[in-house]
Amino acid sequence: MDIQSIGIVGAGQMGNGIAHVMALAGYDVLVTDVSADALKNAMDTIEGNLGRQVGRGKVSEADANAAMARIKTTQTLTDLGQSDLIIEAATERETVKQAIFEDLLPHLKPDTILTSNTSSISITRLASRTDRPEKFMGFHFMNPVPVMQLVELIRGIATDTETFDACKAVVDRLGKTAASAEDFPAFIVNRILMPMINEAVYTLYEGVGSVQSIDSSMKLGANHPMGPLELADFIGLDTCLAIMNVLHDGLADTKYRPCPLLTKYVEAGWLGRKTDRGFYDYRGEVPVPTR
Ligand SMILES: NC(=O)c1ccc[n+]([C@@H]2O[C@H](COP(=O)([O-])OP(=O)(O)OC[C@H]3O[C@@H](n4cnc5c(N)ncnc54)[C@H](O)[C@@H]3O)[C@@H](O)[C@H]2O)c1
Repeated sequence: MDIQSIGIVGAGQMGNGIAHVMALAGYDVLVTDVSADALKNAMDTIEGNLGRQVGRGKVSEADANAAMARIKTTQTLTDLGQSDLIIEAATERETVKQAIFEDLLPHLKPDTILTSNTSSISITRLASRTDRPEKFMGFHFMNPVPVMQLVELIRGIATDTETFDACKAVVDRLGKTAASAEDFPAFIVNRILMPMINEAVYTLYEGVGSVQSIDSSMKLGANHPMGPLELADFIGLDTCLAIMNVLHDGLADTKYRPCPLLTKYVEAGWLGRKTDRGFYDYRGEVPVPTR
């Protein structure tokens, strides 16, 4: 199966990164979002990030310009119907993703592969509500997409080998590395990473350490390049909470109980970098801890 065109649903931080790397690898990209602002911001972000890569000598100016020219945007979801591969990267809520696939189905080519960039939702369940569970799988990029080397490929129970191989070939063409994961809550990376972030929030909640002491402890004491709270802000606290809820519900183990302080930050709309406030306040020159 030869994939030439990629449709991306959701132009947030993941959607714009996916569009960026796909266009640079030579794919034709069509991005959709319900928000016109998100589409405009995504194009600005991609242009800025490509410009930085040109500045660092990683990408030639001609390749960056060609990549920008390969990316088109639309607010009409069904325009994606002619794409060979669709990557859904909308908000991490199952009802949102389900509605997107339902709306897309009548407009798809028979052999279009459907994938989701979900961090945690069951691929098998999302696939079962489509007309092509054998052509459905998880295509899970890491953030920031242009920088991170790994892509988790998640097979649902019905995913066929042809679909898996076609997605693996796309990952190879991107110059990234695929890790194959089975379809259990949060797959591999987030199954391990999110409980650590949640535990860091409990450590803050219980007053064991401040934001700063928790982050510097893990950076200097465990050699992590970023502290867990800084990383949570980077990922988005709503996404972190959604993943903890999926682990808690899906594995029915109290060790995955989301920290009430994480819930409170999300209730406040303090979602991290994307809203300028989370465990740090990003509105000034330098990030200032909020606790
Ligand atoms: N943030 C991360 O570090 C990360 C990493 C890997 C995977 N993911 C996953 O990627 C997906 C997107 O996450 P994000 O961080 O980019 O979120 P985000 O909030 O930055 O972007 C989500 C975008 O989806 C759009 N959207 C919502 N409903 C839509 C609809 N019905 N149709 C079209 N667009 C719609 C929103 O307008 C928004 O622009 C989630 O499933 C998340 O779990 C996130």
